[in-house]
Amino acid sequence: MKYGYFDDENREYVITQPDTPLPWINYLGCQAYFGIISNTAGGYSFYRDARLRRVTRYRYNNAPYDFGGRYIYLRDDDSSEFWSPSWQPTRQVLERYTCRHGMGYTVIGSRYHGIEAQTNYFVPLDQDLEIWRVTLTNRRSARASLSIFSSIEFCLWDAQDDATNFQRNFSIGEVEIEDGVIYHKTEYRERRNHFAYFACSRSLAGFDTQREAFLGPCRGWDRPVAVERGQLSNSVAHGWAPMGAHHVKVALEPGETQQIIFLLGYHENPQAQKFDPPDSQTVNKQTVKPVIARYLGLAEVDAAFEKLRQYWDGLLGICQVATPDVHTNRMVNIWNAYQCMATFNMSRSASFYESGIGRGLGFRDSNQDLLGFVHMVPARARERILDLAATQLATGGAYHQYQPLTKRGNNDVGGNFNDDPHWLIIGVAAYLKETGDWSILDEPVPYDNAPGSERPLYEHLQRSFQYTLDRLGPHGLPLIGRADWNDCLNLNCFSDTPGQSFQTTTNKDGKIAESVFIAALFVLAGREIADIARHKGRKEEAARYLAEVAKMEDAIRKHGWDGEWFLRAYDDFGRKVGSKECAEGKIFIETQGFSVLAGIGLDDGRASAAMESVAKHLATPHGIILQQPAYSKYYLELGEISSYPPGYKENAGIFCHNNPWVMIADTRLGNGDRAHDYYARINPSAREPISEVHRCEPYVYAQMIAGRDAPTYGEAKNSWLTGTAAWNYYAITQWILGIHPTYDGLEIRPVVPKGWRGLKATRIFRGVTYHINVTRQGEGNRVTLRVNGVPQEGAVVPAPAVGVREVAVEATLT
Ligand code: GLC
Ligand code: GLC
Repeated sequence: MKYGYFDDENREYVITQPDTPLPWINYLGCQAYFGIISNTAGGYSFYRDARLRRVTRYRYNNAPYDFGGRYIYLRDDDSSEFWSPSWQPTRQVLERYTCRHGMGYTVIGSRYHGIEAQTNYFVPLDQDLEIWRVTLTNRRSARASLSIFSSIEFCLWDAQDDATNFQRNFSIGEVEIEDGVIYHKTEYRERRNHFAYFACSRSLAGFDTQREAFLGPCRGWDRPVAVERGQLSNSVAHGWAPMGAHHVKVALEPGETQQIIFLLGYHENPQAQKFDPPDSQTVNKQTVKPVIARYLGLAEVDAAFEKLRQYWDGLLGICQVATPDVHTNRMVNIWNAYQCMATFNMSRSASFYESGIGRGLGFRDSNQDLLGFVHMVPARARERILDLAATQLATGGAYHQYQPLTKRGNNDVGGNFNDDPHWLIIGVAAYLKETGDWSILDEPVPYDNAPGSERPLYEHLQRSFQYTLDRLGPHGLPLIGRADWNDCLNLNCFSDTPGQSFQTTTNKDGKIAESVFIAALFVLAGREIADIARHKGRKEEAARYLAEVAKMEDAIRKHGWDGEWFLRAYDDFGRKVGSKECAEGKIFIETQGFSVLAGIGLDDGRASAAMESVAKHLATPHGIILQQPAYSKYYLELGEISSYPPGYKENAGIFCHNNPWVMIADTRLGNGDRAHDYYARINPSAREPISEVHRCEPYVYAQMIAGRDAPTYGEAKNSWLTGTAAWNYYAITQWILGIHPTYDGLEIRPVVPKGWRGLKATRIFRGVTYHINVTRQGEGNRVTLRVNGVPQEGAVVPAPAVGVREVAVEATLT
């Protein structure tokens, strides 16, 4: 069953039924001011940091589930009837409803008793504000006298504190109202220089800023007393719950349309200009008034929306493909790339599954995310790499997370996740291949942000590599530390106390448990750093890296192979994890996919055996399961992985993040059919017809799909903010479709289904547009190239002469 449809032309997903199985959301903003918005206008906004600068309030875990948002009420002043044009929160049955989630905007439109209302929500580029442009049309045969009410609930900035510290919070709320603009200024009197504002393009019939005055005692947002009455009370919040509501009266003749704009924004004043007059406690509004005036104008709003469209045209235009598969095209050209930008902006902080108060930016997560967006925003990727590297420790280790506002490593979580440092090498290599900007390696970057400790970025990579060599276990495999990629494989934790964090509790000295996954990652990262060293002319150094890589491969062959697949780890007792000898958890996906992706076992049959084992034991119609058999009970020596009920998350869920590792592995073995088949199984667009099973948005990947051991097999969870976005994008574009940036040029090496006659692509790479046309003449993966009509050796298209902007590439597969 579907709840909407894709409008590929407009790059939108159109939801036609408001009660989707879960909130289906979108993101507003792409620089500093952000919001999440659901298909019924739920969600919240923040400036830069979802925890520390939360602009509006939201309640997760509520009933109905999606509650709190950018709500508009319409009231028919003749009949006194009122409704929500976004369905929530009043939930009247609408005559018509559509929600169009597009690139950085959401338009919710509906019709009720002949009144059409359409609200376009978006954040203009370079501005710290959001616009709600409401268009009202009267389709009745008679004049309509309407009232329109806006409403939002302000958050008292720190979202964690806001949800807990009521003894203080109920006394500190403060607002000002001037010229119909509501200013939320809680804590402005002391250490904050920022405030929020909520403005309207029309003159007001009233306003409210105290929630209780608007809702009335014992009422919720579905039946505010002020809306019911048709009159706001001009309340001024002192403490309790500051909110913003405007009331505008609109008279519409039959067929008439009118537009009203609401603006919600964030503003900071310089310390010396906080107050106006300077010796008062009144917010200085001179600095923000011009911004408000500008964006309350319709022409300006139209222009800003057009600019936003062009911005996305530019980003998405960098890689466009036309394949025989509509789901591939749609995800590559629109939604997967868009999701990669969301993971760039949000990391894992704010979604309907990430509360915005929990995790900062993950070191491993953000480095992997780079794979998906580096081609779209290389300059910002560069900045991200340098920020990440600056949190690296002098040992080569890394804080597991850092806080986006301070850019400092997060001490609560700390480090010792022994895979972390290698992801920096992977991220930097991706950046270098895409941009050719070798200067980044010379950038001075501190360790742990300590002034005076700056060393060239290149040295950070060297230390990342060395970190593992300094931490080898009894089998010559890397010690796992707190966890490796799998945050829930906690082999040194041994926690028997409820509530302890599995990631930060360490009861063992960590000298025995080893990770075969980190070994494979080390091999990949080692090859990358060797390549980088070679390109820098450091031949001996490169050879040394490769020698270490060879030793590690040897250790994997001797101690990391179980006969038909790669082992996963050794626990603190030195016992195998992920072996046929285990009662449960006999085979894991991570080491199969990643070892082969890293090139391990390609020449000795292990790679193909591992892929056959995956197909046999782990692949399901809903995707590839993380491990089998699921752990049926809690294992003290394994940690969080066995805390999940069977089939969920890391305990035998379909973790969509590592499915692409297997896809890439299969392309390395030349299995285009299987690689694309795995791709299609978790492709959200391909799963759209089973939306009632999948339940999450059909336009973005979710972190997890419940595995076959789960009662809700096939149900997705944790959509949007997941490494799944980058890895699937990377797998499909670079390995299956085979458009692969290298240091020496753009490589064209598709490994696609045998049934495909060909594909076309446009890829802008280092400022040159490559028009790629692939035609299949045989069933294999052998590539023959013609560049601008001239035969070219190998599969790499070299950079054209300086000044040449367009290159035509003909690739033939035989
Ligand atoms: C989550 C984490 C990621 C980890 C994965 C597997 O997605 O953000 O860092 O690798 O889970 O545990
Ligand atoms: C939990 C989750 C895991 C995530 C981790 C982040 O362990 O199960 O997926 O990576 O939290 O800290």
